[in-house]
Amino acid sequence: MQDFNFYSPTYFVFGKDKENLVGHYVKRFGGSKVLIHYGGGSVIRSGLMDRVKASLNKEGIDFVELGGVQPNPIDSKVYEGINLCRKEGVDFILAVGGGSTIDSAKAIAAGVKYDGDFWDFYSKPMPVTDAVKIGTVLTIPAAGSEGSGDSVITKTDGMLKWDASGEALRPTFSIMNPELTMTLPPYQTACGITDIMAHVLERYFTNTKDVEITDRMCESILQTMVKEGPRAIANPNDYAARANIMWAGMVAHNNLVGVGREQDWSSHRMEHELSALYDVAHGAGLAVMFPAWMKYVVKHDINRFAQIAVRVWNVPMDFANPEATALEGINRFEKFLSSIGMPINFEQLGAKEEDIPKMVERIGLKDGETIGGFVKLTSKDIENIYRLAVN
Ligand code: NZQ
Ligand code: ZN
Repeated sequence: MQDFNFYSPTYFVFGKDKENLVGHYVKRFGGSKVLIHYGGGSVIRSGLMDRVKASLNKEGIDFVELGGVQPNPIDSKVYEGINLCRKEGVDFILAVGGGSTIDSAKAIAAGVKYDGDFWDFYSKPMPVTDAVKIGTVLTIPAAGSEGSGDSVITKTDGMLKWDASGEALRPTFSIMNPELTMTLPPYQTACGITDIMAHVLERYFTNTKDVEITDRMCESILQTMVKEGPRAIANPNDYAARANIMWAGMVAHNNLVGVGREQDWSSHRMEHELSALYDVAHGAGLAVMFPAWMKYVVKHDINRFAQIAVRVWNVPMDFANPEATALEGINRFEKFLSSIGMPINFEQLGAKEEDIPKMVERIGLKDGETIGGFVKLTSKDIENIYRLAVN
């Protein structure tokens, strides 16, 4: 195991009706003038927004609102938010929604405190060290942004989907009521499940030795998703399934299971080109890219792939032919994704083979440069993986 520092200061408030306490927590964490940030309106239709406002009013906290964050959030909404916060003297940003809304809130929070263009944090290796305080009321378990120090924004000029990170971006508190996720359509639920599994897998595939504790934690999250995912899709009102998925989404991505080990975020990097180009859901893009990446790199460490096949996918170990075990694990993962309604190739996703050179070019590796930790991928490797994902 490698040395590490781990700081995850978010205060989590988990359970039924907890959104009614949001005013209390904004006050506790020092907010007096709030920007309520939200998406396309699901939180209004569900009645959640009324409860959030009632709670803020009860505590005498003043607020302004900015809705309209779209999935795969874009820069123009961020600039609008920064201007509004400065004009109104906002000192706390409350994101009510999913990863897109939370990421947009984080970008605004960083931008308000910065003299230059907020995009600098996304386009340069420049961690966010100062930001307006953020709180969240989560409505979809998926991105893990409620506990992470990351934000992903798309700059529409060039459709660049890039990320920023920094400890200042971790929410001060996140309210997680599993009941709020019961209105999710099955497809969005499945996209979330896929993203959560991908966050674990990006950490699981590592060259670091002696990481039994995080290996086992990763495997337990994956097993939980395999059990609870189909239950939530079959019965959207299954509180136990929703609750387990919701907490899994947080622990999968606040880096608790990724510390002390080299990670590999190639599948995410390749997926971001798909969601930038076709505006598809991030989880759906991952369902297409992850199995393709696995098939391409499996030979790098057959034993690790066989281990996950046995421990998570219940494949009997073929000691005479571990590669067969490894490949059967990938096969079962792909079948699982398909069974929960995810696309598993370009055609099902609506992506086009002829766009592959464009996507490779946009990743932008120069000669000799690579992405990935487990396996270092050149532009040619990336092209081969996109081609494996075609059908
Ligand atoms: O916009 P509204 O109307 O709220 O509808 C949303 C949206 O259409 C809907 N939705 C959310 N909660 C709902 C609901 N519909 C009914 N009932 C509910 N309870 O679901 C749709 C998707 O929402 P979105 O916020 O886009 O989903 P998600 O949480 O998957 O976020 C995706 C974004 O997060 C980024 C992705 O790239 C993508 O842009 N990621 C952020 C990460 C991070 N900050 O750490 C890491 C991830 O790897 C990921 O890249
Ligand atoms: Zn993700």
